[in-house]
Amino acid sequence: MNWKLVLLAATLLFTGGCRHGQDDPGKTAGLTGKVILPPPAYTGGTSLEAALAKRYSVRRFSDRPLSLAALAQILWAAQGITTDAVTGATRTAPSAGATYPLEIYLVAGNVADLPPGLYHYRPKEHSLTPLGPGEHRPALAAAALQQDFISAAPASIVLAADYPRTTRRYGDRGQRYVHMEIGHVTQNIHLQAAALELGSVAVGAFDDDRVKSLLKTEYAPLMIVPFGAPQ
Ligand SMILES: Cc1cc2nc3c(=O)[nH]c(=O)nc-3n(C[C@H](O)[C@H](O)[C@H](O)COP(=O)(O)O)c2cc1C
Repeated sequence: MNWKLVLLAATLLFTGGCRHGQDDPGKTAGLTGKVILPPPAYTGGTSLEAALAKRYSVRRFSDRPLSLAALAQILWAAQGITTDAVTGATRTAPSAGATYPLEIYLVAGNVADLPPGLYHYRPKEHSLTPLGPGEHRPALAAAALQQDFISAAPASIVLAADYPRTTRRYGDRGQRYVHMEIGHVTQNIHLQAAALELGSVAVGAFDDDRVKSLLKTEYAPLMIVPFGAPQ
């Protein structure tokens, strides 16, 4: 597949101004310019032990663009579809009752072959739905109490929760399940980044309303994870 052509189509079809807050943001937005990502690798050269030993919070990023393959791998690590022998399709992180309350947004600024912009990750298609073109990293940094390393990171994942998917089944206790799931997913991102010789950091300090407004989402943003090559 010619990724450049796919990405060009995505750029041309970029549409801003859509508001999200439904079960399927990409579908709701009526956008067709999705970016099919390179398939994830299921085997790699880094052991889990080495990735654990290498992980630390990286807040200084180099100017080197992130490859689309590395970006795709990290998105897959966060929430990608896998298969288990018993239940069939599952995901890389556990989810209470398989309710999958989390949505993954991407603020990309320095990714090779991907135009800067806001995107939504769709695990089933392993694709990105463009939500709005342009450089949004400074706005995300400003919403995160001016943690300026967010502007320097090639990309940031924003994890947002649709609580009712889980509280519908588990009542108030579902809220704690959502928060636990955020931890699982965030650690997957950290370990995958470390395995790719990249760095990442968990950012929990931000203004919820500003992040929601930037992403045009009704979901609750719970974590921002900037990542890229360490300086
Ligand atoms: C829930 C959570 C929220 C965090 N929020 C921030 C943050 O807003 N900004 C930041 O620079 N680091 C943040 N961190 C990263 C911690 O500061 C970091 O993990 C800690 O200092 C230990 O360092 P290490 O990750 O290098 O081992 C957060 C970590 C967690 C788990």
